[in-house]
Amino acid sequence: MAKTASPVLVLAGAEAGDLRALEDYRRAGGYASLEQARKLGSERVIAEIKESGIRGRGGAGFPMGQKASFIPAPEKTAKPIYLVVNADESEPGAFKDREIIERVPHRLIEGMQIAALAIQAEACFIYIRGEYLTGSEIFAAALAEAEAAGLVGIPITVHRGAGAYICGEETALLESLEGKRGQPRSKPPFPALVGLYDSPTLINNVETIATVPKIIELGGAAYAKIGVAGSTGTRLFSLSGNVVRGGNYELPHGTTFRELIEDCGGGISEGRKLKAIIPGGSSTPILGADQIDTPMDYASMEKAGSFIGSASVIVIDDRACMVQLALRLTQFYMNESCGKCTPCREGTRWLEMILRKIEEGRASRAELDLLLDVCDRILGNCLCPLGDSNAMIVASYVRHFRAEFEAHVEKGGCPVAATSSLTGVRSPVDELYRGRVGQEAAL
Ligand SMILES: Cc1cc2nc3c(=O)[nH]c(=O)nc-3n(C[C@H](O)[C@H](O)[C@H](O)COP(=O)(O)O)c2cc1C
Ligand code: SF4
Repeated sequence: MAKTASPVLVLAGAEAGDLRALEDYRRAGGYASLEQARKLGSERVIAEIKESGIRGRGGAGFPMGQKASFIPAPEKTAKPIYLVVNADESEPGAFKDREIIERVPHRLIEGMQIAALAIQAEACFIYIRGEYLTGSEIFAAALAEAEAAGLVGIPITVHRGAGAYICGEETALLESLEGKRGQPRSKPPFPALVGLYDSPTLINNVETIATVPKIIELGGAAYAKIGVAGSTGTRLFSLSGNVVRGGNYELPHGTTFRELIEDCGGGISEGRKLKAIIPGGSSTPILGADQIDTPMDYASMEKAGSFIGSASVIVIDDRACMVQLALRLTQFYMNESCGKCTPCREGTRWLEMILRKIEEGRASRAELDLLLDVCDRILGNCLCPLGDSNAMIVASYVRHFRAEFEAHVEKGGCPVAATSSLTGVRSPVDELYRGRVGQEAAL
């Protein structure tokens, strides 16, 4: 599968000018796709999106055209139809949606109008991560300009989240948008049929929606030629960690980690060696340094034992202690677990306690096995993917770096604590866990 050369699509024009202003965005061809979509009409717009092969950029990678076609026609439902854009972006390592919102807000607004037109929605909502204050202000200003220019036929409501990772999960997001506690709903029914206020709802990620104007501009078939089969189009890769030039890079699917890390990112910082790659945000299983030539597309990533997820690539250099890394991430999942189902609520706590014992040299070999046993008991038994993600990543850290875990047990502590780049990196709520130490004595 050869990858094709790719133009910059989602961020097109943002280097040359300030596309936050409506005038500049229009000068760069903005809102022409919306006009075109109005001429095409709902069915043909959905057909173009289907033909483009675009898969959701939020993590799960579900084909957008297929999801849009699940929405019933207005005459087949007594309820209003809604479009919801997921701008919660709280996955550690992810910062691409922020750049889209802050640099090309009109492209997102245009994409929302086209997608809403496609599903014949009555109203649109955008749920923006609470911490993205600047982004929500930029978006609101762009929206006001677009409204004043008569470009927003289907009303858009901006909603700011209150800072919970779980509110990025689509059904928890809907609960939160409705003013309830952000906890996932059981599925089915899926939001396409029973979504916001029990109405048919299309939920898509910011990047997915911001790509739609380009699909209409190029045509679905031409868009599908970018990238590789099964993983069409470009992707905004968020590159961070021990790399010289971190940032967002828009590249075609099928680009390798090496091209991203070395050509775009300038290689590993401080002349260190690559140890591992977190390939698609913190919830994706880790890859070893020897997998640096893996192409970043859905199929290659699964073959490599992980997922493309939110395309957030975190580079880990040879100083990092993998037990500390697994522990630090597990603290995040434990803290963000909404508590609705037992395997996740209790399981993430068990993982955190065992990992901390290993890191601090208080664990036995049997507890290393217990760690994997807890992973097995979580996997497949949770209401949403949060619990599974924690279990999957911990198992992947042990699989790739078992000798390092064993060394902690045998040496009675962290062999690299004095030099690990992660030593001292603590969760903001770490002090809360420290308060629990007494309760763990029995473990
Ligand atoms: C714990 C959790 C957090 C998530 N966070 C986000 C998020 O911040 N943004 C996002 O677009 N999708 C997130 N998702 C995925 C959404 O549930 C959903 O699949 C996505 O919004 C659908 O849009 P897409 O098809 O365009 O990717 C999350 C899923 C889980 C389980
Ligand atoms: S898996 Fe975790 S976050 Fe998801 S519903 Fe269950 S407790 Fe909540």
